[in-house]
Amino acid sequence: MESFAYNTLNPGIETRVSDLLARMTLAEKIGQLNQISPMSYLPPGPDWVRGDPPRLEPFPDVEALCASGAVGSIYNTDSAAFVNRCQRAAVTRTRLGIPLIVGGDVIHGFRTVFPIPLALASTWNPELVAQTARVAAEEASATGIDWIFAPMVDIARDPRWGRIAEGSGEDVYLGGVMAAAQVRGFQARGLASGKRVAACPKHFVAYGGAESGRDYNAVDISEVALRQVYLPPFKAAFDAGAGSTMSAFNDIGGVPASGNPLTLKKILREEWAWPGLVVSDYESVRELIPHGVAEDLKDATRLGLLSGVDMDMVSRGYITHLADLVAEGSVPEAVIDEAVRRVLRLKYALGLFENPYVDEARESELMLTPANQAVALEAARGSMVLLKNEGDLLPLVPGAQRLAVIGPLAESRFDPLGCWAFFGRTQDSQSVVDGLRAYLGEASPAPVAGCDLIDTTVLDTEAAVAAAQAADVVVLVVGEIQELSGEAHSRAYLGLPGRQQELVDAVAATGKPLVVVLLTGRPLVIPRLAQQASALLVAWHAGIRAGQAVADLLFGAVAPTGRLTASWPRAEGQIPVYYAQKNTGRPISGDGTTQFVEHFRSAYLDVPNAPLYPFGFGLTYTSFAYSDLVVETPELATADTLRVHVTLANTGDRAGVEVVQLYVRDLVGSVTRPVRELKAFERVELAPGEARVVSFAVPVADLAFVGVDHAWRVEPGAFKVWVGAHAATGLESGFKVVA
Ligand code: NOJ
Repeated sequence: MESFAYNTLNPGIETRVSDLLARMTLAEKIGQLNQISPMSYLPPGPDWVRGDPPRLEPFPDVEALCASGAVGSIYNTDSAAFVNRCQRAAVTRTRLGIPLIVGGDVIHGFRTVFPIPLALASTWNPELVAQTARVAAEEASATGIDWIFAPMVDIARDPRWGRIAEGSGEDVYLGGVMAAAQVRGFQARGLASGKRVAACPKHFVAYGGAESGRDYNAVDISEVALRQVYLPPFKAAFDAGAGSTMSAFNDIGGVPASGNPLTLKKILREEWAWPGLVVSDYESVRELIPHGVAEDLKDATRLGLLSGVDMDMVSRGYITHLADLVAEGSVPEAVIDEAVRRVLRLKYALGLFENPYVDEARESELMLTPANQAVALEAARGSMVLLKNEGDLLPLVPGAQRLAVIGPLAESRFDPLGCWAFFGRTQDSQSVVDGLRAYLGEASPAPVAGCDLIDTTVLDTEAAVAAAQAADVVVLVVGEIQELSGEAHSRAYLGLPGRQQELVDAVAATGKPLVVVLLTGRPLVIPRLAQQASALLVAWHAGIRAGQAVADLLFGAVAPTGRLTASWPRAEGQIPVYYAQKNTGRPISGDGTTQFVEHFRSAYLDVPNAPLYPFGFGLTYTSFAYSDLVVETPELATADTLRVHVTLANTGDRAGVEVVQLYVRDLVGSVTRPVRELKAFERVELAPGEARVVSFAVPVADLAFVGVDHAWRVEPGAFKVWVGAHAATGLESGFKVVA
């Protein structure tokens, strides 16, 4: 898949940018740095039902505003016709006719809604993830969106944080792979509408480090962690061709990310020589005031621009105060010129000057095509993770067992759409019950909700227990509604919300085997549920084809292939719990599940150190055996490549996919290093009885880490290497890096 290289500047574009800039007045320049959200959200009407799309109404004066030259970008639009109206105003009624760039939050699909990004990452299938991004870009582009505010590449190790749903999980390496895949997909050429789309990786940077998992909270991390953990996925996204980024809401060690010269200037511009555009997050320039680093909007404007934020999303600080700041001499016009250059470069690179309008006639034709829906189905199937399957209860055989279907999410078509599905429609989506019905037809059991999704006081177990008693197997569909995850949706208790656990307890008391289908936007804390379940399938919020995907997996039409990309804690008190932790000076012995007898060690008295389900974990309907780990290169120079082979055998009686994962540990470093780090993985499909040698080649350069001087280096010394099925297992060997 080809991608744009916005960071490889085209000399043709540079000449055009300079020429245009030289013709612009200061006011016209400032207009280019102003992004507005031109729609108001109306309160729900009297007939509103949960799942109806939001009611948007354009500002009455929006075209006049665009025609005034005071707007460089709009985002949050609803149709090609609206975009064209605004664009026509900018192109035909401003002096220089500079087109708008139109942004949009297209985080996991557009009209064709895909699984949430955390679920997409759980496919461990970057090519499939890239396909979802390509489809999303094609559909978004058909409504006039040129600039997608995604991928969200924030590393997240705290499932209390609702926005863990929007990223790829806890791991730096996997996060980089998925970031690059999404950028490639969004920016793939040849979009059917004739327009291209630019990606905007966000939120720069360290937003996922929010203290106590509370959204927008302070982030106080070391510069080593900033560089080692939070920055690499951005670098991967830029290397894949992303030409813009969004500065985050949070502060980093006391300096807000949208007024942070270390991250926005020193790292982005000086160290990485990255020429892209920085747009603020929504009012994050204005929020420099409540952060307590700016006195007022004018001060925030000065700080934002001088720190490296090129475009102001919605604060209206730049449009209101920049001219005065230049007149007073507090902001050099040259800084504005640089910011404007970055905006214009992106507009030229997207071809907006040549092709500013979108073809309204094709808008609906490009949405939700059968091909797009097929990608949604494949992504939904691939994203789901089987955590338990006692006695091979799954797959079920349609018609062979009497089923009961219980749980408040069983019939929901809205919740599978997930946290960023503004453009999704409930009518396009399928519930788990819809999926099961396609297999069982008339014989489908009538679903029993048992409790209410929204009113968490309502619990009615009687019908649920009766249904369970009349069945051989119970399919329990429980979990989070979509409003419990995503932005501003942090939770402190991560069990099943509302009365659902009581419902499960009542149904479990019947003694019937439980197949739990868990819809969720985050890792939950479910030790009790996990014990009660005979089979446990994490179905996430998996988009419009979630229902069919669940049924296909439960009935074995396809086998589960997903693996976790964030650890599932046993208790909220363990958070953050992630596999790439430090060893500490007092490590426990063993695997972290039985450390209670060890005193004065880094452990809890009341809960194991290990998570309930580790990073990388997931079952399928067959079994795999690993053998013969060979490190072909036990001694390596820093320019060499580590070559490791392992034999993988399918020891079960069904075909299956294993995600073979390679981890390393750098045993002695000048700074403390994680006990394990993922460095490579491969999805391997094997027929029953088949065995294959799986080979990895990891450049020694990829073992580099950030030292106390904040520079990347590989240090000579001994390493361990594991190859296996998840972060808490694997065949072990070692190698040495020599100077
Ligand atoms: C705020 C969110 O943090 C960001 O992810 C989003 O792109 C902007 N709002 C624009 O809607």
